[in-house]
Amino acid sequence: KDLKPIKDVYADYFMIGNAVSYSEFEGLRYDLLKMHHNLVTAENAMKPGYAYNDNREFDFSAQDGLVKAARDSGLDVHGHVLVWHQQSPEWLYQNADGTPLSREAAIENMNNHIEATILNFGDDIISWDVVNEAIVVNGSNYENWRQHLRQSGWLRAIGDDYVELAFRKAKEVVNKHNLDIKLYYNDYNDHFENKSSIMYYMIKEINEKYAKENDGELLIDGVGMQAHYHLHERNTAERVEQSLKRFIELGVEVGVTELDITAGADGVLTEAEEKAQAYLYAQLFKIYKEHAEHISRVTFWGLNDATSWRADRNPLVFDRNLQAKEAYYAIIDPEGYI
Ligand code: G3I
Repeated sequence: KDLKPIKDVYADYFMIGNAVSYSEFEGLRYDLLKMHHNLVTAENAMKPGYAYNDNREFDFSAQDGLVKAARDSGLDVHGHVLVWHQQSPEWLYQNADGTPLSREAAIENMNNHIEATILNFGDDIISWDVVNEAIVVNGSNYENWRQHLRQSGWLRAIGDDYVELAFRKAKEVVNKHNLDIKLYYNDYNDHFENKSSIMYYMIKEINEKYAKENDGELLIDGVGMQAHYHLHERNTAERVEQSLKRFIELGVEVGVTELDITAGADGVLTEAEEKAQAYLYAQLFKIYKEHAEHISRVTFWGLNDATSWRADRNPLVFDRNLQAKEAYYAIIDPEGYI
């Protein structure tokens, strides 16, 4: 109760976000959410799989409730996600027998999804993850980013320009309706040089091409570093800073979109592990502050360890009883903690 709100500590630097479900808008969890954050991402509810009824018609009722609850609470909302290979109806890109739809049919479904979803929420959303996790490292030669595109249903049906087409459609909708929405490419393993290089070359090429045709305008406005890290990996802070600098070179804004750091196992965290985890959180926030001019938000992927997607490995800032962990104190004063 006497804790400083994280969002106030970082008010001059970037927004502080968290991943939520609608059920968290009450009780103690809601108090914690409102106290420390000014931005939310739906952990699941705004994925394509939750946007249709059984007749394949749009039905945004669940998402609308969440977004309204957030907006009524004064929280901004980041949209996650428009085009992804998971939690999406397969009929968007393939036939019942698993064969890909024609390129034209898949593009039409993708475009309809992008347009209807963006317009349903309009200005209630400050940014969208337009494409999520399109890249998997496949050998070296990072400049040749097409070689590293995930063999997803979208890729199989449309081809290797589907990422660019998705952003072009999203940008067209945003511009046509005068919406103030930033368009993000979001991915994980962002701290590894191979992955971040491939992301870098893909965004660079897509943005340079679009800029030439559109008076220098950006197509992809932001890069989401998901930031799912692990205590047992070495040199995470150094790697994060390297990737961050790379993305900043692109002239885009950077969002830290799904931050968590696994530590311990089986729901148990020793004192030493909790301190080490806190130290890495401090290192990361120190780096984020130093580059704050280019960072739009830092979003945690969950409120507390008990409900995290990696609950067994205690990755978050608040513990199973919603009490502040050592990580909280590290984040509040990273320089002092290091
Ligand atoms: O809603 C159903 C429920 O009806 C059913 O009874 C239950 C049984 O398994 O499943 C529920 O759905 C689960 C859903 O979360 C909602 O809780 C899915 O099984 C489960 O797979 C899904 O996991 C989510 C995961 O994305 C799916 O890939 C996690 O909560 C969510 O944290 C995670 O988030 C992703 C980001 O979107 C993208 N980046 C990585 C990140 C972590 O994987």
